[in-house]
Amino acid sequence: MTNDTNPQTGGRFGAEVLDRLDQLAQFSESDEGLTRVYLSAEEKGAGELLIGWMTEAGMAADFDAVGNVVGRYEGNAPGLPALLTGSHYDTVRNAGQYDGMLGVVSAISCIKALNEAGERLPFAIEVIGFADEEGVRFQSTLLGSRGVAGTLDAEILDKQDADGTTMAEAMTAFGLDPARIGDAAHKAEDVLAYIELHIEQGPVLLAEDLPVGVVTSIAGATRFAVTVTGLAGHAGTVPMGGRHDAAAAAAEMLLAIEDRCSGIDALVGTVGQLTVPEGATNVIPGAAIFSIDIRAGDDTVREAAVADVEAALAAIAERRNVTVELTRTHEAKSAICAPWLMDQIRDAIGAADIEPRYLMSGAGHDAMAFVDLTDIAMLFVRCGNGGISHHPDETMTAADADLSTAILLDIFRRFRPKADGA
Ligand code: HGY
Ligand code: MN
Ligand code: MN
Repeated sequence: MTNDTNPQTGGRFGAEVLDRLDQLAQFSESDEGLTRVYLSAEEKGAGELLIGWMTEAGMAADFDAVGNVVGRYEGNAPGLPALLTGSHYDTVRNAGQYDGMLGVVSAISCIKALNEAGERLPFAIEVIGFADEEGVRFQSTLLGSRGVAGTLDAEILDKQDADGTTMAEAMTAFGLDPARIGDAAHKAEDVLAYIELHIEQGPVLLAEDLPVGVVTSIAGATRFAVTVTGLAGHAGTVPMGGRHDAAAAAAEMLLAIEDRCSGIDALVGTVGQLTVPEGATNVIPGAAIFSIDIRAGDDTVREAAVADVEAALAAIAERRNVTVELTRTHEAKSAICAPWLMDQIRDAIGAADIEPRYLMSGAGHDAMAFVDLTDIAMLFVRCGNGGISHHPDETMTAADADLSTAILLDIFRRFRPKADGA
């Protein structure tokens, strides 16, 4: 089904969604690729563009107390409880332009269609662009969605970025009041559910030639910052047997992590960052710093892998006469999507004559932050290029942008709050 021949929408959404994603991609900290981190000037610019589109779509829109962009479309009476939707508008470094932003832009196009048709539903809809899902700047994650879920602790304001700027200082520079982060929180009684549209960031839908899928659960994740401390020395004079080489120890640790996390279904382990601070070619590394990201669909599988990795790193450090310090920087249990919501997504997919495909998400999402506030569900959209993501080659088609937006609109129109006992 191409963008021009989509009978449901005649292609009205695809071009608008992709054009807006192109516009958002211009807001980056560099001309080399797309990088937009929390509370940056470029994030403010992107947020203002989103607010403009939300307002044009008939929503009351503004930044909230933690830098999210929140657009509210009232129901058929003012002040009704809301269906929450959206995704994040921050990015990883050198990112693709669909991860996160698609869920915000598509939802805006849905509300615009409702507004143009003069449609008011028996509930409000809030479209939210979350300001920090990736956690790049402050080594945090889900900051924006945790702000809306009301689970942010004030000590997070002391976190510093690589330049030593605290989150509180960055908030003030962005025009926010760090003392008011609690204002972003939503009450459970004001929220009916949370539904997020997001690219799959993987190859499953592409391989099965399906444009969309229903997410069953989101893998839990544990992240560490690791510092290995050895003894710097002259690369030419210290015998190999007498070294306390922090980088060589880190290398053995990385392979131990890879080994422990290989060969077990839905368990993955990644070292995404690795540095030798003040390293030099002719100096034995006295220190090595790296990150660990361990995920699994099943929390007990992840927790067992984490415990084994901690023990393996301690043993390697002992044997190599270095020290190793692990700081846990993120912990999220796996998030289960609500069957009653999955059924409503399934029905909308079926109404588009598509076979509903159920799949779990290895990637983390803002939806994880809401599991203690309300029920969650996600609609996955196929991506191209083998499903590559967190990479400039991330891609999708106008037809899939069009169809998935039409399905999201149908989900909104079909939405019925959870029946008692559902
Ligand atoms: O890391 C993740 O899975 C997400 O993209 N933040
Ligand atoms: Mn991401
Ligand atoms: Mn994402």
